[in-house]
Amino acid sequence: MPPVPKRGVVAVTGAAGFLGGWTVRNLLDRGYRVRACVRSVDDDSRVGFLKALPGYASGRLTLHTADLDRVGCFDDIFVGCHGVAHIAHISTYEDQDYVRRTCDHIIASVNAARSVTRVVVTSSVAAVISEMDLQEVVRRPVFYEDRYPDESNPKRTPERGQGYSMGKLVAERAFSDAAAASGFWDSVTCCPGDNVGPIQSAHQKDMGPWQHHIEGMLRGAYHQNGVYRPWMTVDVRDDADCHIGLLESSEVKNGERYIAWSTDVRKVEDICADIDRLLPELNHAATPPIDPFPDRIKAREAEFRGIWAQCELRNDRIRARTGITFRSLDESIRDCAESLIAVAKVPVRRREAAVETA
Ligand SMILES: NC(=O)c1ccc[n+]([C@@H]2O[C@H](COP(=O)([O-])OP(=O)(O)OC[C@H]3O[C@@H](n4cnc5c(N)ncnc54)[C@H](OP(=O)(O)O)[C@@H]3O)[C@@H](O)[C@H]2O)c1
Repeated sequence: MPPVPKRGVVAVTGAAGFLGGWTVRNLLDRGYRVRACVRSVDDDSRVGFLKALPGYASGRLTLHTADLDRVGCFDDIFVGCHGVAHIAHISTYEDQDYVRRTCDHIIASVNAARSVTRVVVTSSVAAVISEMDLQEVVRRPVFYEDRYPDESNPKRTPERGQGYSMGKLVAERAFSDAAAASGFWDSVTCCPGDNVGPIQSAHQKDMGPWQHHIEGMLRGAYHQNGVYRPWMTVDVRDDADCHIGLLESSEVKNGERYIAWSTDVRKVEDICADIDRLLPELNHAATPPIDPFPDRIKAREAEFRGIWAQCELRNDRIRARTGITFRSLDESIRDCAESLIAVAKVPVRRREAAVETA
């Protein structure tokens, strides 16, 4: 199906969020007309940063209230759109029937619009590597697009914490099946890694795990990662550009998926130490992570770290299709920390007096 035309109309769901907000901003920078979909256009604590963008003043950016839980939620908004970046979270990933219903709501609006030719659906690397048994990572250590979590593992259930990974795959398949059936739009999936980078609005410090972890580091208390998994990152601005590149590409095909990450990998405690290395002016007092794991997991720390260390992260597919050059993680950490202090007024635990000062 045709890619979205340059300066065409693109709807972005989850536009008040960390990734959605950057996708809106980068689309505007590239000349597009943008319909930003949020749950409340009147909640300026969440959407004020969008209203402050120059494109809003001119009318090139418009804001629209839409809740994915409602049938027909995007019917009016999508009419006349060329593309949709479906980035929003949903209310829960625990109930797979609910996940499917939210997909059906948005798919029905795309079909009804008749103008949309490309939908980019935001999935996650959790739909690539979420394993109930880490030996599966040992067996299949190359993380690339055609790798899926072991879906035959009987422990892969929402009750065991796999709802998010399962729900993302439900959505990927629902959209590509619906697109194939429609014959006039296609669906391409983007699977981002761990998003790091600047927040644009104070409320975003509480969303997404990674900027929230960095907030904890600045304050002096943050947690170890799941089974000692290192961060596998992408800058949120590059992630947004990956989404836009997939909307623009004339080479992508329905049902394809693309991992968006730089392939930079770093331990959580090293990220905390990096704040001082990258911003020595802060005198940040780096602290070790709080380790919440039971003793039986702690006893296997070296083994788990060894498993992650031999994994190979690939991003050749997205680089070939979009021409993206990923920022370094250093740049993402620096800009995230600075934005948390400047935009969200996060207090920093400093070395000299070991007291918090804003
Ligand atoms: N952050 C990461 O590291 C990461 C990694 C991999 C994949 N992802 C995926 O990327 C997407 C964006 O993540 P993010 O970190 O930017 O999330 P975020 O900052 O929490 O933003 C998500 C947005 O989803 C919207 N939303 C939630 N429930 C909704 C509903 N029922 N109807 C309509 N909108 C709803 C919220 O809108 P309002 O603000 O208007 O209420 C929110 O702004 C998600 O799909 C996530 O799974 C993120």
